[in-house]
Order: sequence, then C-alpha cells, then structure tokens
Amino acid sequence: MTYNNISLREDNGFCVLSINRPKKLNALNMLTINELSEALIDLESRRDVRAIIITGSGEKAFVAGADISEFANFSVAEGKQLSKKGHKSLFNYIEQMKTPVIAAVNGFALGGGLELALSAHIRVFSENAQVGLPETSLGLIPGYGGTQRLANIAGKGRAMEMILTAEIISADKAFVFGITSAVVPQKDLIDTAKTFAKKIMTNSPNAIGKAIGCINANFTSGIDGLAYEIQSFGECFDNDEFKEGTRAFLEKRKANFSI
Ligand code: COA
Repeated sequence: MTYNNISLREDNGFCVLSINRPKKLNALNMLTINELSEALIDLESRRDVRAIIITGSGEKAFVAGADISEFANFSVAEGKQLSKKGHKSLFNYIEQMKTPVIAAVNGFALGGGLELALSAHIRVFSENAQVGLPETSLGLIPGYGGTQRLANIAGKGRAMEMILTAEIISADKAFVFGITSAVVPQKDLIDTAKTFAKKIMTNSPNAIGKAIGCINANFTSGIDGLAYEIQSFGECFDNDEFKEGTRAFLEKRKANFSI
C-alpha cells in the first residue's frame, strides 16, 4: 500500500509508523487520520507484526494537533461528526488493538497529537517533547478522547489542570504526571521504543491481546473488569501459546511464541 502522509518501516517483527507532514508539524488532517487507520487495520491483521511504534517525522513535532484549517468553519453537526469519526476510526481503535502500540513522542504533542499518544498502550518522550491539550484556548474541548484518557492516565486533578489552563508542559513534568514511561535524549527515542517493543515480543501475543482488553475493561463503563478478566484468563488455557509457555518453563528453555 502507498500512502501520502505516513510512512512505514518494518523491522524484525515490529513496525515504525511515521506521520509525515513535517512542514505542518504533522498536524492530523483527514487524509492522515484515514491513512493511519488503514495502515493500523492492516498491521493488526498480520501475525508477523508483534508491536507498532508511532512517531512523527522531523525533530520538532510528534503531532501539533488536529488540522485547525480543516474545521475552522464547521457547524455543530460537522463538529460532532469529526469527533465521532475520529474516535471510531483511530483513537478508540488504537486503544483496543490487540497488537501493542508505542507512541514515541519526539517534540510537540498537542491536542489531537497528545490524544493520539494517550490512545497508545505505552508512551516514551524525547527530552524536547512539549505536550498539552490547548483546545480551550481555541474555544474547544479535546474531542479525540482527551478528556477521558488524560484523566484515566494522569488522574482527574491533573487532567483538570492541563485542560483548563491549556498549558503546554515539559517532558519532565509529563513524567511526573505519569503520562510517559520514559524521557530520553531525542537520538535515543526510537531505540528506547524498540526496547519496549522487543520485550513485549518475547511474550505471548494471545496473552498480550487479552491483557490489553482486560486493562481497558476497567475503564469502560458497563463492563465488569474482574468478570472480564476471569473470562479472558480461562480462555488462555485453550491456546497453543499457553501450552508452549508452560512447556518451555518446565523444560527450562525460552518459550517460542512464533508458533
Ligand atoms: N493545524 C494546522 N496547522 C498547524 C497546526 C495545527 N494544529 N500546528 C501547526 N500548524 C502549521 C502552522 O500553521 C504552520 O504552517 P505554515 O508554515 O503554512 O504557516 C506550520 O505548521 C508551522 O507551525 P508554526 O506555528 O509556524 O510553528 P511554531 O514553531 O511557531 O509554533 C506550535 C509551534 C506548535 C506552538 C504552533 O504551531 C501551534 O500552536 N500549533 C497549534 C497547536 C494547537 O492548538 N493544537 C491543538 C489543535 S485542536
């Protein structure tokens, strides 16, 4: 598949997906959202792709937000549709993917950019990352899940602080807020993300997918997370990866989950 606004680099078992509009600080226009969605659906269907790293092209921005020029004249109905479509095709989709997604935030991650990173399962930031949800400064609120996911990840008080002040915070403050797992020099960012990917790839893809589902269940209204865990735990026993994992332990060798 060929894309205009994103590029894909495959490595041994994982994939680096770059958002490629550096002149617009990788702002998410509709085409970019559609291409990301298409690429992720394809990657998730592939058993040989065990982790996905999402990053931004260039050294300045991960994603500087949704493309403001596209929605500046929207009506109420168009605004609702923009948010709804984004949730379904990209932000909720990423959060619920069985293949783990790591956001490697290499600069500005603002508005939809931070929301994209918050949808990922793990985040790593470069030292120059600056992140925030500045939508209230535009007369808007975050519309790609930011009001919910930032509160879930950083806590209600910190989400209130960041969204109401529209403040852009440093990578170090984001670390203190629990928004990122690591802050590293920019030159080490992708390698750090790859280290997470490689650790994940030694584990059972079936179990990884189920673990993501169970953790998300705790944050989904109407779902009893513990009941979901009991069900998912039981289902693991009917999978060859469980058989391989336990057999490998008893035979004192490393499990091979490329079965
Ligand atoms: N949507 C559309 N275009 C954007 C954009 C966005 N969210 N963020 C940056 N751009 C564009 C700029 O319009 C500019 O385009 P131009 O060169 O054609 O004029 C280009 O990217 C470079 O941005 P610029 O503002 O010149 O860079 P800067 O270094 O002076 O400032 C930021 C960087 C991130 C502080 C600034 O671009 C900004 O505030 N962006 C918007 C952030 C935001 O509010 N995001 C939430 C959207 S809901």
